[in-house]
Amino acid sequence: MKLHIALLPGDGIGEEIITQAVKCVDATCRRFGHEVTYSRGLVGAAAIDATGDPYPEATHRLCVEAGVVLFGAVGSPRYDNDPSARVRPEQGLLAMRGRLGLYANLRPVNIFPSLVARSPLRGELLEGVDILCVRELTGGIYFGRPRGRSEDGETAYDTCVYTREEVRRVCALAFEQARRRRGRLTVVDKANVLATSRLWRETAREMAPAYPDVTVEYMFVDNAAMQLVRQPAAFDVIVTENLFGDILTDEAGAITGSLGLLPSASVGAGVSLFEPIHGSYPQAAGKDIANPVATILSAAMMFEHAYHLHAEGAAIRRAVATAIADGFVTEDISADGHAYGTRAVGSYIAGKI
Ligand code: IPM
Ligand code: MN
Repeated sequence: MKLHIALLPGDGIGEEIITQAVKCVDATCRRFGHEVTYSRGLVGAAAIDATGDPYPEATHRLCVEAGVVLFGAVGSPRYDNDPSARVRPEQGLLAMRGRLGLYANLRPVNIFPSLVARSPLRGELLEGVDILCVRELTGGIYFGRPRGRSEDGETAYDTCVYTREEVRRVCALAFEQARRRRGRLTVVDKANVLATSRLWRETAREMAPAYPDVTVEYMFVDNAAMQLVRQPAAFDVIVTENLFGDILTDEAGAITGSLGLLPSASVGAGVSLFEPIHGSYPQAAGKDIANPVATILSAAMMFEHAYHLHAEGAAIRRAVATAIADGFVTEDISADGHAYGTRAVGSYIAGKI
Protein backbone atom coordinates (compact mmCIF):
# COMPACT_ATOMS: atom_id res chain seq x y z
CA MET A 1 0.00 0.00 0.00
CA LYS A 2 1.10 3.61 -0.61
CA LEU A 3 0.99 5.82 2.48
CA HIS A 4 1.26 9.60 2.40
CA ILE A 5 1.61 11.16 5.82
CA ALA A 6 1.77 14.84 6.76
CA LEU A 7 4.22 15.35 9.62
CA LEU A 8 3.58 18.33 11.89
CA PRO A 9 6.15 18.19 14.70
CA GLY A 10 5.17 21.59 16.17
CA ASP A 11 7.02 22.88 19.22
CA GLY A 12 9.11 21.79 22.20
CA ILE A 13 9.78 18.06 22.13
CA GLY A 14 7.61 17.71 19.00
CA GLU A 15 10.50 17.28 16.58
CA GLU A 16 12.25 14.62 18.68
CA ILE A 17 9.19 12.47 19.30
CA ILE A 18 7.99 12.68 15.70
CA THR A 19 11.44 11.56 14.55
CA GLN A 20 11.11 8.42 16.71
CA ALA A 21 7.61 7.73 15.42
CA VAL A 22 8.89 8.06 11.85
CA LYS A 23 11.58 5.45 12.58
CA CYS A 24 8.81 3.11 13.70
CA VAL A 25 6.55 3.87 10.73
CA ASP A 26 9.49 3.24 8.39
CA ALA A 27 10.30 -0.05 10.12
CA THR A 28 6.65 -1.11 9.91
CA CYS A 29 6.46 -0.24 6.21
CA ARG A 30 9.67 -2.16 5.51
CA ARG A 31 8.39 -5.20 7.33
CA PHE A 32 4.95 -5.23 5.72
CA GLY A 33 5.98 -4.03 2.26
CA HIS A 34 4.33 -0.59 2.19
CA GLU A 35 5.65 2.51 0.51
CA VAL A 36 5.55 5.66 2.60
CA THR A 37 6.17 9.31 1.76
CA TYR A 38 6.12 12.26 4.14
CA SER A 39 5.43 15.97 3.78
CA ARG A 40 6.35 18.32 6.59
CA GLY A 41 4.43 21.35 7.78
CA LEU A 42 4.67 24.08 10.39
CA VAL A 43 2.22 24.55 13.23
CA GLY A 44 2.20 26.31 16.61
CA ALA A 45 4.94 28.66 17.79
CA ALA A 46 7.21 27.35 15.02
CA ALA A 47 4.63 28.53 12.47
CA ILE A 48 4.09 31.88 14.21
CA ASP A 49 7.84 32.54 14.07
CA ALA A 50 7.99 31.72 10.37
CA THR A 51 4.68 33.15 9.10
CA GLY A 52 2.83 34.94 11.91
CA ASP A 53 0.06 32.34 11.69
CA PRO A 54 -0.05 29.31 14.04
CA TYR A 55 -1.85 27.23 11.37
CA PRO A 56 -0.73 28.57 7.98
CA GLU A 57 -2.76 27.93 4.85
CA ALA A 58 0.11 25.87 3.39
CA THR A 59 -0.07 23.53 6.39
CA HIS A 60 -3.82 23.17 5.99
CA ARG A 61 -3.45 22.26 2.30
CA LEU A 62 -0.77 19.73 3.18
CA CYS A 63 -3.07 18.03 5.72
CA VAL A 64 -5.99 17.91 3.31
CA GLU A 65 -3.82 16.49 0.52
CA ALA A 66 -2.21 13.83 2.69
CA GLY A 67 -5.44 12.96 4.49
CA VAL A 68 -3.43 11.55 7.37
CA VAL A 69 -1.52 13.67 9.86
CA LEU A 70 1.02 12.73 12.51
CA PHE A 71 1.22 15.58 14.96
CA GLY A 72 3.68 16.31 17.79
CA ALA A 73 2.66 19.11 20.13
CA VAL A 74 2.27 22.88 20.28
CA GLY A 75 2.93 25.39 23.01
CA SER A 76 5.75 27.59 24.18
CA PRO A 77 6.52 29.32 27.48
CA ARG A 78 7.19 32.47 25.46
CA TYR A 79 3.42 32.76 25.11
CA ASP A 80 2.19 31.14 28.32
CA ASN A 81 3.53 33.95 30.46
CA ASP A 82 2.25 36.72 28.24
CA PRO A 83 -1.49 37.25 28.81
CA SER A 84 -1.54 39.98 26.16
CA ALA A 85 -0.18 37.77 23.34
CA ARG A 86 -2.45 38.34 20.37
CA VAL A 87 -1.77 35.02 18.76
CA ARG A 88 -0.97 31.78 20.59
CA PRO A 89 0.49 28.46 19.44
CA GLU A 90 -2.55 26.60 20.82
CA GLN A 91 -4.78 28.51 18.39
CA GLY A 92 -2.99 26.60 15.63
CA LEU A 93 -4.08 23.28 17.07
CA LEU A 94 -7.65 24.47 17.58
CA ALA A 95 -7.83 25.96 14.07
CA MET A 96 -6.54 22.72 12.65
CA ARG A 97 -9.07 20.60 14.57
CA GLY A 98 -11.87 22.92 13.51
CA ARG A 99 -10.93 23.29 9.86
CA LEU A 100 -10.20 19.59 9.39
CA GLY A 101 -13.51 18.70 11.07
CA LEU A 102 -11.84 16.46 13.65
CA TYR A 103 -14.84 16.24 15.93
CA ALA A 104 -13.94 13.09 17.85
CA ASN A 105 -10.75 12.47 19.78
CA LEU A 106 -10.20 8.85 20.84
CA ARG A 107 -7.94 8.47 23.82
CA PRO A 108 -7.38 4.88 24.95
CA VAL A 109 -6.08 4.31 28.47
CA ASN A 110 -4.32 1.00 29.14
CA ILE A 111 -1.91 -0.18 31.78
CA PHE A 112 1.43 -1.81 31.05
CA PRO A 113 1.85 -4.54 33.71
CA SER A 114 5.51 -3.72 34.35
CA LEU A 115 4.60 -0.08 35.09
CA VAL A 116 1.98 -0.69 37.77
CA ALA A 117 4.40 0.55 40.43
CA ARG A 118 4.74 3.88 38.56
CA SER A 119 1.05 4.64 38.98
CA PRO A 120 -0.02 6.93 41.81
CA LEU A 121 -2.82 4.41 42.43
CA ARG A 122 -2.51 1.12 44.33
CA GLY A 123 -1.77 -1.77 41.97
CA GLU A 124 -4.98 -3.64 42.80
CA LEU A 125 -7.04 -0.73 41.44
CA LEU A 126 -5.36 -1.02 38.05
CA GLU A 127 -6.33 -4.60 37.36
CA GLY A 128 -8.51 -4.72 34.27
CA VAL A 129 -8.21 -1.02 33.43
CA ASP A 130 -9.01 -0.60 29.74
CA ILE A 131 -10.77 2.68 29.00
CA LEU A 132 -11.53 4.48 25.78
CA CYS A 133 -12.23 8.18 26.28
CA VAL A 134 -14.07 9.78 23.39
CA ARG A 135 -13.64 13.53 23.69
CA GLU A 136 -15.67 15.92 21.54
CA LEU A 137 -13.05 18.12 19.89
CA THR A 138 -14.53 20.91 17.77
CA GLY A 139 -17.29 22.37 19.92
CA GLY A 140 -18.14 23.55 23.40
CA ILE A 141 -16.39 26.31 25.28
CA TYR A 142 -13.21 25.93 23.20
CA PHE A 143 -15.00 27.28 20.14
CA GLY A 144 -18.17 29.05 21.33
CA ARG A 145 -18.82 32.72 20.59
CA PRO A 146 -18.94 35.32 21.99
CA ARG A 147 -15.73 35.29 23.92
CA GLY A 148 -13.48 38.02 25.16
CA ARG A 149 -13.26 40.97 27.51
CA SER A 150 -15.45 43.87 28.32
CA GLU A 151 -14.12 47.27 27.29
CA ASP A 152 -12.94 48.13 30.79
CA GLY A 153 -11.09 44.81 30.93
CA GLU A 154 -12.83 43.86 34.19
CA THR A 155 -15.05 41.13 32.81
CA ALA A 156 -14.13 38.12 30.68
CA TYR A 157 -16.44 35.56 29.09
CA ASP A 158 -16.40 32.31 27.12
CA THR A 159 -19.46 30.62 25.72
CA CYS A 160 -20.25 26.91 25.73
CA VAL A 161 -22.35 25.97 22.69
CA TYR A 162 -23.45 22.58 21.35
CA THR A 163 -25.95 21.70 18.66
CA ARG A 164 -27.86 18.43 18.80
CA GLU A 165 -26.08 17.30 15.64
CA GLU A 166 -22.63 17.94 17.15
CA VAL A 167 -23.59 15.82 20.14
CA ARG A 168 -25.20 13.11 18.02
CA ARG A 169 -22.24 12.47 15.73
CA VAL A 170 -19.69 12.07 18.51
CA CYS A 171 -22.08 9.95 20.60
CA ALA A 172 -22.74 7.74 17.56
CA LEU A 173 -19.03 7.08 17.32
CA ALA A 174 -18.85 6.32 21.04
CA PHE A 175 -21.82 3.93 20.88
CA GLU A 176 -20.13 2.10 17.97
CA GLN A 177 -16.89 1.82 19.90
CA ALA A 178 -18.71 0.53 22.99
CA ARG A 179 -20.46 -2.07 20.87
CA ARG A 180 -17.08 -3.36 19.65
CA ARG A 181 -15.62 -3.39 23.16
CA ARG A 182 -17.29 -4.42 26.42
CA GLY A 183 -20.64 -2.81 25.68
CA ARG A 184 -20.61 -0.11 28.34
CA LEU A 185 -20.88 3.61 27.68
CA THR A 186 -20.61 6.36 30.30
CA VAL A 187 -21.93 9.74 29.19
CA VAL A 188 -20.17 12.36 31.32
CA ASP A 189 -21.80 15.75 31.75
CA LYS A 190 -22.91 18.37 34.25
CA ALA A 191 -26.60 18.14 33.47
CA ASN A 192 -27.53 19.29 36.97
CA VAL A 193 -26.13 22.73 36.11
CA LEU A 194 -25.47 23.25 32.38
CA ALA A 195 -27.98 23.57 29.55
CA THR A 196 -25.49 22.14 27.05
CA SER A 197 -25.09 19.10 29.31
CA ARG A 198 -28.85 18.59 29.37
CA LEU A 199 -28.81 18.57 25.56
CA TRP A 200 -26.02 15.95 25.68
CA ARG A 201 -27.98 13.74 28.04
CA GLU A 202 -31.23 14.12 26.11
CA THR A 203 -29.49 13.29 22.83
CA ALA A 204 -27.71 10.22 24.22
CA ARG A 205 -31.04 9.03 25.73
CA GLU A 206 -32.73 9.34 22.35
CA MET A 207 -29.96 7.35 20.68
CA ALA A 208 -29.64 4.56 23.24
CA PRO A 209 -32.53 2.36 21.98
CA ALA A 210 -30.72 1.97 18.63
CA TYR A 211 -27.87 0.29 20.53
CA PRO A 212 -29.62 -2.34 22.65
CA ASP A 213 -26.31 -4.17 23.10
CA VAL A 214 -24.77 -1.15 24.86
CA THR A 215 -25.45 -0.37 28.54
CA VAL A 216 -25.48 3.40 28.98
CA GLU A 217 -24.92 5.21 32.23
CA TYR A 218 -24.95 8.95 32.87
CA MET A 219 -22.47 10.49 35.27
CA PHE A 220 -21.77 14.02 36.45
CA VAL A 221 -18.24 15.11 35.63
CA ASP A 222 -17.24 15.75 39.24
CA ASN A 223 -18.27 12.23 40.15
CA ALA A 224 -16.51 10.85 37.05
CA ALA A 225 -13.28 12.57 38.14
CA MET A 226 -13.61 10.82 41.48
CA GLN A 227 -14.57 7.38 40.07
CA LEU A 228 -11.55 7.47 37.74
CA VAL A 229 -9.25 7.25 40.74
CA ARG A 230 -11.54 5.13 42.94
CA GLN A 231 -12.38 2.38 40.47
CA PRO A 232 -10.95 3.05 37.01
CA ALA A 233 -11.58 -0.56 35.95
CA ALA A 234 -15.34 0.07 36.07
CA PHE A 235 -15.18 2.22 32.90
CA ASP A 236 -15.30 0.97 29.32
CA VAL A 237 -16.09 3.84 26.92
CA ILE A 238 -16.48 7.40 28.20
CA VAL A 239 -17.94 10.09 25.96
CA THR A 240 -17.90 13.73 26.93
CA GLU A 241 -17.67 17.30 25.76
CA ASN A 242 -14.46 19.09 24.83
CA LEU A 243 -13.32 20.70 28.10
CA PHE A 244 -14.42 17.85 30.39
CA GLY A 245 -12.62 15.44 28.03
CA ASP A 246 -9.45 17.50 28.14
CA ILE A 247 -9.38 17.40 31.92
CA LEU A 248 -10.48 13.81 32.47
CA THR A 249 -7.97 12.40 29.96
CA ASP A 250 -5.03 14.03 31.74
CA GLU A 251 -6.34 12.45 34.92
CA ALA A 252 -6.86 9.07 33.25
CA GLY A 253 -3.41 9.38 31.69
CA ALA A 254 -1.74 9.98 35.02
CA ILE A 255 -3.06 6.72 36.45
CA THR A 256 -1.12 4.78 33.80
CA GLY A 257 2.09 6.08 35.36
CA SER A 258 3.05 8.67 32.77
CA LEU A 259 1.30 11.03 30.41
CA GLY A 260 4.14 10.14 28.06
CA LEU A 261 2.42 6.86 27.21
CA LEU A 262 -0.95 8.04 25.92
CA PRO A 263 -1.72 8.23 22.21
CA SER A 264 -4.80 9.60 20.51
CA ALA A 265 -6.64 9.62 17.22
CA SER A 266 -8.74 12.54 16.02
CA VAL A 267 -11.27 11.71 13.38
CA GLY A 268 -14.28 13.24 11.71
CA ALA A 269 -15.04 14.61 8.29
CA GLY A 270 -12.33 12.71 6.39
CA VAL A 271 -8.82 13.70 7.39
CA SER A 272 -7.53 11.92 10.47
CA LEU A 273 -4.86 13.12 12.84
CA PHE A 274 -2.77 11.20 15.36
CA GLU A 275 -1.09 12.85 18.30
CA PRO A 276 0.18 12.13 21.80
CA ILE A 277 -2.07 13.59 24.49
CA HIS A 278 0.84 15.23 26.31
CA GLY A 279 1.99 18.71 25.40
CA SER A 280 5.18 20.27 24.09
CA TYR A 281 7.11 19.82 27.39
CA PRO A 282 9.47 22.73 26.62
CA GLN A 283 11.71 22.04 29.63
CA ALA A 284 12.73 18.76 27.98
CA ALA A 285 13.14 20.04 24.43
CA GLY A 286 16.45 19.06 22.85
CA LYS A 287 17.55 17.07 25.91
CA ASP A 288 16.82 13.61 24.51
CA ILE A 289 14.75 12.70 27.59
CA ALA A 290 11.15 12.93 26.34
CA ASN A 291 9.18 9.70 26.17
CA PRO A 292 8.45 8.89 22.50
CA VAL A 293 6.00 6.09 23.32
CA ALA A 294 2.80 8.17 23.15
CA THR A 295 3.71 9.31 19.64
CA ILE A 296 4.79 5.84 18.55
CA LEU A 297 1.49 4.42 19.83
CA SER A 298 -0.28 7.23 17.97
CA ALA A 299 1.41 5.90 14.82
CA ALA A 300 -0.01 2.45 15.67
CA MET A 301 -3.48 4.03 15.88
CA MET A 302 -2.77 5.67 12.52
CA PHE A 303 -2.16 2.32 10.83
CA GLU A 304 -5.37 0.94 12.33
CA HIS A 305 -7.76 3.87 12.01
CA ALA A 306 -6.53 5.61 8.86
CA TYR A 307 -5.42 2.61 6.80
CA HIS A 308 -7.22 -0.34 8.43
CA LEU A 309 -3.84 -2.06 8.70
CA HIS A 310 -4.36 -3.94 11.95
CA ALA A 311 -1.39 -6.31 11.87
CA GLU A 312 0.86 -3.29 11.40
CA GLY A 313 -0.65 -1.49 14.39
CA ALA A 314 -0.33 -4.66 16.47
CA ALA A 315 3.34 -5.03 15.52
CA ILE A 316 4.08 -1.53 16.81
CA ARG A 317 2.16 -2.17 20.04
CA ARG A 318 4.02 -5.43 20.63
CA ALA A 319 7.36 -3.70 20.06
CA VAL A 320 6.41 -0.97 22.55
CA ALA A 321 5.29 -3.56 25.11
CA THR A 322 8.59 -5.40 24.65
CA ALA A 323 10.65 -2.24 25.15
CA ILE A 324 8.73 -1.45 28.33
CA ALA A 325 8.99 -5.00 29.66
CA ASP A 326 12.74 -4.97 28.88
CA GLY A 327 13.12 -1.74 30.85
CA PHE A 328 14.29 0.03 27.69
CA VAL A 329 12.47 3.25 28.66
CA THR A 330 12.91 6.97 29.26
CA GLU A 331 13.39 8.48 32.71
CA ASP A 332 9.69 9.22 33.35
CA ILE A 333 8.98 5.48 33.64
CA SER A 334 12.36 3.94 34.47
CA ALA A 335 12.36 1.90 37.67
CA ASP A 336 15.98 1.44 38.71
CA GLY A 337 17.23 4.90 37.83
CA HIS A 338 18.63 3.55 34.59
CA ALA A 339 16.96 5.46 31.78
CA TYR A 340 17.54 5.58 28.04
CA GLY A 341 17.32 8.59 25.78
CA THR A 342 14.46 9.47 23.43
CA ARG A 343 16.46 8.44 20.36
CA ALA A 344 17.68 5.17 21.87
CA VAL A 345 14.15 4.17 22.87
CA GLY A 346 12.83 5.04 19.40
CA SER A 347 15.54 2.99 17.72
CA TYR A 348 15.01 0.05 20.08
CA ILE A 349 11.29 -0.04 19.35
CA ALA A 350 11.88 0.31 15.60
CA GLY A 351 14.37 -2.57 15.84
CA LYS A 352 11.79 -4.76 17.59
CA ILE A 353 9.29 -4.01 14.83
C1 IPM B 1 -4.81 18.56 24.43
C2 IPM B 1 -4.17 19.87 24.78
C3 IPM B 1 -4.84 20.99 23.99
C4 IPM B 1 -6.29 21.03 24.40
C5 IPM B 1 -4.18 22.37 24.16
C6 IPM B 1 -2.72 22.35 23.80
C7 IPM B 1 -4.91 23.42 23.36
O1 IPM B 1 -4.22 20.10 26.15
O2 IPM B 1 -4.76 18.17 23.25
O3 IPM B 1 -5.38 17.92 25.30
O4 IPM B 1 -6.65 21.66 25.41
O5 IPM B 1 -7.10 20.43 23.71
MN1 MN C 1 -5.08 18.47 27.29
